[in-house]
Amino acid sequence: VVLTQDELKKIAAYKAVEFVESGMVLGLGTGSTAKHAVDRIGELLRLGKLKNIVGIPTSKKTQEQALSLGIPLSDLDSHPTVDLAIDGADEVDPHLNLVKGRGGSLLREKMVEGACKKFVCIVDESKLVNHLGGSGLAMPVEIVPFCWEFTARKLQNMFEDSGCVAKLRNGAKGEPFVTDNGNYIVDLYLQKNMGDLRVASDAILRIAGVVEHGMFLDMATTVIVAGELGITIKNK
Ligand code: A5P
Repeated sequence: VVLTQDELKKIAAYKAVEFVESGMVLGLGTGSTAKHAVDRIGELLRLGKLKNIVGIPTSKKTQEQALSLGIPLSDLDSHPTVDLAIDGADEVDPHLNLVKGRGGSLLREKMVEGACKKFVCIVDESKLVNHLGGSGLAMPVEIVPFCWEFTARKLQNMFEDSGCVAKLRNGAKGEPFVTDNGNYIVDLYLQKNMGDLRVASDAILRIAGVVEHGMFLDMATTVIVAGELGITIKNK
């Protein structure tokens, strides 16, 4: 039987939810993979198999999903320490560094996942890469709308040796995509990887118009990969 990508996402998500225990403060991720995990948590609460869960959503979309499932919610102001977060990723490298944010929720994801004791990342095997940003797909950067072209140009110039093209992300009707925090996203398309990731990260964050970027370095404690041949669990 050949499984669809969505079935693989669901397998990884259900496996991650096995790490959830009653009484936990849980970071609830965003995206098509994390959605399965949130559904499963809602189901286990409804069945009484999990109790006293507090969810910390990483986007307005996940907040709505969790509310519709009856998952009690809070935020980092009230719960600054999160026991476990479960979330997807766009790319995972061999050191468990991630690219996130192609769904646009990278800032809240980074805040919540940066506050958790364990961060279990769930992916299907198509997300595995040797180098972040090398897959020809976007490396997202959240920027303030004020003079966004100025910031986008700075980002493009910073990585010109990697053949970088910076593009403002558009929404469904061609207008700029606006994040949950009222910001824009610039997607960096790289022809070559950007070298030392920590150096690249620091350099991006030094640009004043940048709010956050989608590289999640040294944050995932576990990555669950679902593939045609089964589940692989990688630990930091
Ligand atoms: C949301 O901003 C992203 O970080 C998602 O977590 C990531 O893009 C993975 O999404 P999918 O599970 O839909 O591939």
